[in-house]
Amino acid sequence: MNNSAIDRLSTGVPGIDKMLSGGIPRGFLVAVVGEPGTGKTIFSQHFIAAGLSRGEKAIYVTTEESRESIIRQAEMFGFGFKDAVKNGDLIIIDALMEERGDPWSLYELTIEELISKIIEAKKTLGYGHARLVIDSMSAFWLDKPAMARKYSYTVKRRLSRWNLTIIATSQYAVTTSLGFGFGIEHVADGIIRFKKTIIGGELRRFVIIEKMRQTPHDRKVYEIDIIDGTGMKIIKPSVYTASELRIPISIIRKILEAEYKKESEL
Ligand SMILES: Nc1ncnc2c1ncn2[C@@H]1O[C@H](COP(=O)(O)OP(=O)(O)O)[C@@H](O)[C@H]1O
Ligand SMILES: [Mg+2]
Repeated sequence: MNNSAIDRLSTGVPGIDKMLSGGIPRGFLVAVVGEPGTGKTIFSQHFIAAGLSRGEKAIYVTTEESRESIIRQAEMFGFGFKDAVKNGDLIIIDALMEERGDPWSLYELTIEELISKIIEAKKTLGYGHARLVIDSMSAFWLDKPAMARKYSYTVKRRLSRWNLTIIATSQYAVTTSLGFGFGIEHVADGIIRFKKTIIGGELRRFVIIEKMRQTPHDRKVYEIDIIDGTGMKIIKPSVYTASELRIPISIIRKILEAEYKKESEL
């Protein structure tokens, strides 16, 4: 099978589609990982908006911001989430809100509840392919990082027959850039990694495709920007290599040692 035979979905960010030889293969589960403020949520919103603009339905699970916050952020880029929710094309499942009356909120932050709500939402949206964002998956294993891989596998397996293409975000720690329990990376068909760093007293953001099955993808680090009114944009290949943007392992070890010490003193 050659590359053109694969059905690819636009991510909604033209520069990232180009890095992916056209987009994300339909039916994939892609992990979008990075530290806070790197653009994971905004990228996920582009992915949903790209589907909506092609008449596809979508589900967005939010664990770190309220439904209102997600809608407000999307409106800044003209993604029309508010209307899509009203028209029944988009269901936003809110895991923060503990209102019993709301049909689309999670009462418990468990994998079982997550999966059953997603399936219920998919049935409500009806027949056909839909895009799903789980933002974030790491919220489900924050207090038990050892479960990360098993939970990720369960989500992938249980949702596999529901005609979904999935983006699952995962939070990396601010200090060490390490995941709170790696898991989704092992199970995912693709990994898109966002990075941020301070260069010359200025916050700069980067993206790299670490993995995408069945795809001859770009392997360079690209600098990105988030622009008011339009959203995420690829600027240019970075002059920094991935290892230059990574904290040296010796320093990570020191930070971790200090954190363990702090914990044991509590
Ligand atoms: N309207 C906007 N214009 C420009 N930049 C924005 C706008 N809204 C948010 N941002 C930038 O995006 C960042 C948040 O990105 P987000 O996708 O929520 O990060 P993550 O989900 O990785 O934590 C903010 O910290 C800010 O720098
Ligand atoms: Mg986010």
